[in-house]
Amino acid sequence: MKIQKLYPICKDYLWGGIKLKEKYGKKTDCTPCAESWELSFHKDGKTLLESGKTLEESVTAEQLGTNAADFSFFPVLIKFIDARGDLSVQVHPSDDYALANENSFGKTEMWYIVEANEGAGLYLGFNREVTREEYEKAIKENTLTDLLNFYKVKAGECYFIPSGTIHAIGSGCLICEIQQNSNLTYRVYDYGRRDKYGNTRELHIDKALLVTKLQKHENKSVSGDVLGVSKYFNVTKLNINGKRQNATSGKSFHCLTCVNGQGTLDGQRVSAGDSFFVPADYGKYTLEGDMEIIMTDIRKYYIGIDLGGTFIKGGIVDDEGNIIVRDKVPTEREKGADGVVANIVKLCHLLMDKLNLTAADVVGVGMGVPGMIDSEQGQVVYSNNLGWADFSISKKVEAALGLPVRIANDANVAALGEAKFGSGKGCRTSVMITLGTGVGSGIVIEGKLFEGNRSAGAEIGHSVIVAGGEQCTCGRRGCFEAYASATALIRDTKRAMEAHPESRMWETYTLDSVTGKTPFDYYDTDDAARAVVDGYIEKLGVGITNIANEFRPEMIMLGGGVCSEGERLTRPLQDFLDHEIFAGKRGPEVKITIAKLENDAGLLGAAALFM
Ligand code: BGC
Repeated sequence: MKIQKLYPICKDYLWGGIKLKEKYGKKTDCTPCAESWELSFHKDGKTLLESGKTLEESVTAEQLGTNAADFSFFPVLIKFIDARGDLSVQVHPSDDYALANENSFGKTEMWYIVEANEGAGLYLGFNREVTREEYEKAIKENTLTDLLNFYKVKAGECYFIPSGTIHAIGSGCLICEIQQNSNLTYRVYDYGRRDKYGNTRELHIDKALLVTKLQKHENKSVSGDVLGVSKYFNVTKLNINGKRQNATSGKSFHCLTCVNGQGTLDGQRVSAGDSFFVPADYGKYTLEGDMEIIMTDIRKYYIGIDLGGTFIKGGIVDDEGNIIVRDKVPTEREKGADGVVANIVKLCHLLMDKLNLTAADVVGVGMGVPGMIDSEQGQVVYSNNLGWADFSISKKVEAALGLPVRIANDANVAALGEAKFGSGKGCRTSVMITLGTGVGSGIVIEGKLFEGNRSAGAEIGHSVIVAGGEQCTCGRRGCFEAYASATALIRDTKRAMEAHPESRMWETYTLDSVTGKTPFDYYDTDDAARAVVDGYIEKLGVGITNIANEFRPEMIMLGGGVCSEGERLTRPLQDFLDHEIFAGKRGPEVKITIAKLENDAGLLGAAALFM
């Protein structure tokens, strides 16, 4: 199938205006013209193609994409709305209520404000928590709007309306609405208006009272190019200024709606107000011109968690490997395993809240956890750096969130993230080393993670590089980790400062404020600092040379905070390795590089446990 221009169905609701005809050139007999249904499979108005057939009857499952196939019917509906008058105050039910009572899906929706007249605004959610009695009384007394948030709107803003949130679009707003494929609205208040036949519209107060969320509401819009996400739609803004390539990947179609400007789409002319359907199996396409495009597709969302000794980092990741939101909370190891689980759960809620998502929108939670992990059982068999043994972490997090959880060793997960989305992409054999509280390692052989029996292996950090050397948290002495972790670097820096009261490191640091950066900051100006860094790089070099000799990978990738030193770390390490590696230059090169995804490798790899 080619890229298809979409021919919308228009609606003449009484509050509509003339902008859809005048600004967007919509060809319709509707007067007024309130809505144009740009992408619709809904029985109340199906979008047509140039052929005169509906899009729904013309499109195959492959053209819709595998993500759409997970829904029993097409999940999304896209409209332009021109509100010359105020729309009724209304609410849409959730899926649960609508499926049980109305034989329909519920409706979550979002609005992109295309144009707003002076003073235009909208109502969205209660401005404080209300009781049902207060809500009912305000409806009866026509004072409902006193209880609602009023937002004055500007072009370019986004509003997200989870099902159950009371709302009304006000006069003077031109909106691109992306919503669940449903036409279910419970009208609460219609300003007593009559249509051209003199009829008032039906109100559905009893049902509205049942489905409205009574909590105080705050609009949460996402920052950046992603405008809104839900399991039914993913909305991204594409600002085209010149030429831009994009591609469908088989997972979802792209619906491109031009809200402003003009240009071309693979040669076809695009004007403001036009919408196009790019089939999921189409592949690469080119947008050219000066246009503001709202792109809608269907994605899956995963929570990725990187459980570290100091912080728990997390993000919501889509199935293209984009981190849409991220945050971190302190691990608080001292609170014990259950305390750490509570923090993981808190972080997951925080992340979902930022995007207005609930557990029903998320496929699962992937976690990278330090230590020996039995991935199949979801169990931490032993974690030296968290001080845990035989802890069934997956079950606890699953019970608290109502979502499936998958876990793997933190460094294995980071290696997976880098291999799938980062520097390791395209490498057949690579090793990832994470330099943090401990030293983690993940080995990818022929594109697959090597984890050893029951995912208990690949602990390169616990191979000894100095017999009888420094104490390691695992119980042995002289482990690679006891020299190359950030913890070891900090220990050695503190020792150097204590031994050298004249060291310049004392100028800005105390023993309590030392970080892995401290000795690097003073490398050029302080002998004690230089000795710490040189010693650190030497030990890191020894460990890396061992790895290179054991696996001869194409690439050794380094991750962790110390890597922000970049070439100051990799250059001397590469020299060391090239000099020390078995058979020297006769053998294939092993390249040392900073992992491209830096600190994101862990959470992306964790999310990838579900992909
Ligand atoms: C643990 C590993 C972990 C690494 C990185 C080491 O101390 O033993 O299992 O991968 O730290 O966190």
